Amino acid sequence: TTKAVILVGGPSRGTRFRPLSLDVPKPLFEVAGHPIIEHCFAAITRLPEIREVFIVGYYDESVFRDFIKDCSRSHPNISLRYLREYQALGTAGGLYHFRDAILKGRPDRFFVLNADVCCSFPLEQMLRLFEEKDAEAVILGTRVPNDSATNFGCIVSDAHSKRVLHYVEKPESHISNLINCGVYLFATEAIFPSIKSAMKRRADRPRLVSYPSSDALDRTYLPQDADDEDGEKTEVIRLEQDILSDLADSRQFYVLETKDFWRQIKTAGSAVPANALYLLKAFQQQSDELAKPSATILPPVFIHPTAHVDPSAKLGPNVSIGPRATIGAGVRIKEAIVLEGAEIRHDACILYAIIGWSSRVGAWARVEGTPTPVREHSTSVVKNGVKVQSITILGKECVVGDEVRVQNCVCLPYKELKRDVANEVIM
Ligand code: GDD
Ligand code: GTP
Repeated sequence: TTKAVILVGGPSRGTRFRPLSLDVPKPLFEVAGHPIIEHCFAAITRLPEIREVFIVGYYDESVFRDFIKDCSRSHPNISLRYLREYQALGTAGGLYHFRDAILKGRPDRFFVLNADVCCSFPLEQMLRLFEEKDAEAVILGTRVPNDSATNFGCIVSDAHSKRVLHYVEKPESHISNLINCGVYLFATEAIFPSIKSAMKRRADRPRLVSYPSSDALDRTYLPQDADDEDGEKTEVIRLEQDILSDLADSRQFYVLETKDFWRQIKTAGSAVPANALYLLKAFQQQSDELAKPSATILPPVFIHPTAHVDPSAKLGPNVSIGPRATIGAGVRIKEAIVLEGAEIRHDACILYAIIGWSSRVGAWARVEGTPTPVREHSTSVVKNGVKVQSITILGKECVVGDEVRVQNCVCLPYKELKRDVANEVIM
């Protein structure tokens, strides 16, 4: 049998997702009408052999309760459970800590998915490669432009056999443009011994310096080794730094290179491309959740059934409108997410933006960001020599006055904007 684990991290993470993560844990933020983590779960449910799924993280116990309830109702034959780390244990530390739960029923293998990626999750193909190669581990890889590769885990593989020869997490200099998508399939009998020996190595030879970070994407680099209650050093074990390069050296480790879409969801702005990619996927699959195309609906567009959209408003492409949002007459929205309870008054224009919960945008106002080139894996742009967010974001309960123009700004919750602003973070 096969199981799956979704790694969600915890409240100290998702800092780059502010201000949106101030009001909702990042995995529950909705893109294309569903929480980010639901897109992962949906992919897992497409494999009939997976009956048991774990969400592993260090959020409070209550955070995923409703989500799990909903999933259990829609997928009664899959057991979905939240396993809480008492503190951040690292991507491999969490798996190891809950090995009894994962190993129960003796599964031969299990998937591990980072919750903060947006992709088509070709899990079936990963399984096929796993079987074909009699592999002990399979990683999903994708090609990115050379200059963004070092922001990710980099894979050197044998083009013919697909074998992973070398793995380096966020290397200092270029080694490969084939990068780690954050989706893995592990043989249980290979991964747990590898984690165990990494822990042993660590205990024998404690690490003195923490790993340097490359901060090209403003990464807030975590995790630090944490002290537990007795003041004992309980160290974080990470798949990426502590395990994967070992697997490349000593195990049957293969890479499935996906040609399909893939994006990371790190900054709040990256929710806009993720929204667009998942909407496009739903559109290609002719999902009946999407709004019907018309003179004023340029697909793909998602409108929550409880939202109210004036028939003269023009929406799309790549727009999601949340529950109970109101969109007035003559409004234009494209490449944007409008969250629950927001109100967009008549003739306002929303482009490349996220409008926070219960925010209000006045008549004839413009809230706009800048498009980022499709191939870019970054959500900032340089304007007048300054790095600014390409996507404009209004936090919860912001108010934009009538005729006010907001350009390339990130606006914290509860702010009122009465004058035009550009290229600013509004605290
Ligand atoms: N349960 C648990 N415990 N989950 C964690 C922990 C932890 O201590 N630390 C991180 N995670 C989760 C995060 O929520 C995320 O889903 C995933 O593990 C990876 O997060 P990071 O450790 O922040 O790594 P990253 O996102 O910068 O890079 C990883 O993903 C890239 C693809 O998006 C690496 O795997 C890269 O190699 C990869 O390219
Ligand atoms: P299409 O090509 O049919 O989409 O028409 P278009 O030329 O109007 O293009 P698009 O809808 O992408 O809009 C271009 C620009 O016009 C946008 O940047 C908007 O600012 C503005 N705009 C278009 N329609 C409206 C509208 O109904 N209300 C407001 N306020 N602005 C609009």
